[in-house]
Amino acid sequence: MSEAPISTLEAARARSAQVEEQIAKDPSQFRVLTGERPTGSLHIGHYFGTIANRVRLQTAGVETILILADYQVITDRDVMGDLRGTVREIMLDYLASGIDPEKTTIFTHSAVPALNQLMLPFLSLVSVSELERNPTVKAETAATGGRAMSGLMLTYPVHQAADILFCHGNLVPVGQDQLPHLEMTRTIARRFNQRYAGGEQYFREPEALLAPTPTILGTDGTKMSKSRGNTLMLSATADETAKWVKRAKTDAERTITYDPEGRPEVANLLGLLSLTTGEDPEVAAARIGDGGAGTLKREVTEALVEYLRPIRERRAELAAHGDDVLEMLARGNERANELADATLDDVRRLMGTTY
Ligand code: TRP
Repeated sequence: MSEAPISTLEAARARSAQVEEQIAKDPSQFRVLTGERPTGSLHIGHYFGTIANRVRLQTAGVETILILADYQVITDRDVMGDLRGTVREIMLDYLASGIDPEKTTIFTHSAVPALNQLMLPFLSLVSVSELERNPTVKAETAATGGRAMSGLMLTYPVHQAADILFCHGNLVPVGQDQLPHLEMTRTIARRFNQRYAGGEQYFREPEALLAPTPTILGTDGTKMSKSRGNTLMLSATADETAKWVKRAKTDAERTITYDPEGRPEVANLLGLLSLTTGEDPEVAAARIGDGGAGTLKREVTEALVEYLRPIRERRAELAAHGDDVLEMLARGNERANELADATLDDVRRLMGTTY
């Protein structure tokens, strides 16, 4: 995945810290819109990277809307796969993790026609060369190994702007690979206001909120991701968890130290221990010390199993209730349609396309 330039990244981090202060003071200023491509059920990289953060924002009283971006599934592949099944699995992961459908709206963008219609005026606001410069789109295209770039791949950042602006989301928790898309959304909001709204601030420019946790690594020491086959699923059993930790790469040094730069794999395990027990990773490293990777792995296994147990149990309970979660999604889609219809009405009025 592409890295944002350091200066942009530092600015985004500094701004994220300020936003956190504002949230603590007055969460009602914000509407969070974020989500993912439904390509499979979720792993602990998703959980610690984004889901736990969403639960935190929801609990802090920030209105939250989550998108399952089903049209984004076919940016880099030909088949949608079992979308209904995948969406159901992700709903289970969300709910088991503490996302509360009474507080958080969850929807799929293909079910919201008015959102998709915003794509047309938005496309008029960007040039092809701007689209071609998007570093994340370039990296994702490169990762398809020579597949011809589809029109949807080139333009999905514009679609993503519609995902965010249809509900006037103003805060977008994302990983750094999404920063170029957020910049495009801001550009589209600004240009829409200038070109079609006579300078009125109709769309506000949304801001990124960078995830506070570091990237979780998989068994091979690279970023946890389904395509690399290095994941630990959120629904993992004790046995699967133990196997995953056993396979996790460490290094040749016997003594455990916390050195994220020099010893990323060991630091990753210490990080997971810290996320699941609350113990500071440096303190854990000093305590384990000469116990080595064996002791570290035993502790990580126990802590992860305990941490994931209630999530797994709640997930199994919810899964036993048939299609309840799809009914929750239907309610989310209804609410998303209300928001999108209102925005499209405004857009039609502003653009003079009312007949
Ligand atoms: N592209 C995002 C990802 O791959 C998923 C996504 C779709 C998204 N629409 C969004 C994220 C709107 C934030 C806001 O992770």
